[in-house]
Amino acid sequence: MSTFISELPKVELHLHIEGTLEPEMVFALARRNGITLDYQDESALKAAYQFADLQSFLDVYYQGMQVLLTEQDFFDLTWAYLVRAYADRVRHVEIFFDPQAHTGRGVPLAAVVSGIHRALEQARQQWGLTSRLIMSFLRHLSEAEAFETLHHAEPFRQQLSGIGLDSAEKGNPPTKFSQVYAAAREQGYRLVAHAGEEGPAGYIRDALDILQVERIDHGVAAITDPPLMARLAQERIPLTVCPLSNLKLNVIKSMAEHPMLQLLHAGLCVTVNSDDPAYFGGYMNANFEALQQGLGASNEELLQLALNGVEACWLSPEEKAVLT
Ligand code: HPA
Ligand code: ZN
Repeated sequence: MSTFISELPKVELHLHIEGTLEPEMVFALARRNGITLDYQDESALKAAYQFADLQSFLDVYYQGMQVLLTEQDFFDLTWAYLVRAYADRVRHVEIFFDPQAHTGRGVPLAAVVSGIHRALEQARQQWGLTSRLIMSFLRHLSEAEAFETLHHAEPFRQQLSGIGLDSAEKGNPPTKFSQVYAAAREQGYRLVAHAGEEGPAGYIRDALDILQVERIDHGVAAITDPPLMARLAQERIPLTVCPLSNLKLNVIKSMAEHPMLQLLHAGLCVTVNSDDPAYFGGYMNANFEALQQGLGASNEELLQLALNGVEACWLSPEEKAVLT
């Protein structure tokens, strides 16, 4: 690992907290909660981390998170992530959680939000690591179910900065969620959505025009649509790109083909993020390193990507100035 990367202060804007569940913790929580797993041991579970596409990952991801039951489980999960992020010199995080993946199993939303929030608060107090929390709707479920979740989250409104949209992209376009995004906007939530990961560039346009999001998660399909790229550059719409995720889910064939630097040099506000690091082979520094080693990114380019993260985050201008 180059010292340039390890010492670079970073901001993480695309991280699913359930995607930080390491195999060791899956087994520890299964023991603590009296759950029997389908896998013999950690190495058998790790062997299942071979993904053909987004859906084959999601199947393993939703299965793994079934060991998360209590407030303490969500605290421990989040704290373990924050320890790793802080060690990677991450100074601010904006993290997703999937409420429906837990309430659908009978876990109270209060336990989920409280456990995550308690860990975020502890990191702020101990290290000055700041954070925002984003509630993400599962797009393979209906818009009515997203509305139920939005309603259900009202008691936790103060802990939630924004809403997002994740899970299976193909066949679940942004337009499916236009009403619930309008309602969330009325309630003052900030809006982001996954778009253009496996789905077409048109989903990025729809997320901007119909959902009115301020930031696109992934968005790498923009590379196929030069007019859209020009617009994203012109409006400085941030893309929260996840290099190792794109590689593991076969969005790209090799890191050498990743569009990150083309997007950067076309003037887009592209940022580096780890998505589901327990499943995709690395946290923030590993993603920067993949760009350096696999794509040949220079220190100057890596610095610009890190600065874009600061530009794209939801801190105040005064707080951002401290990070740069
Ligand atoms: N894409 C869509 N949904 C997800 C992802 C992702 O990369 N990670 C967790 N849920
Ligand atoms: Zn994601």
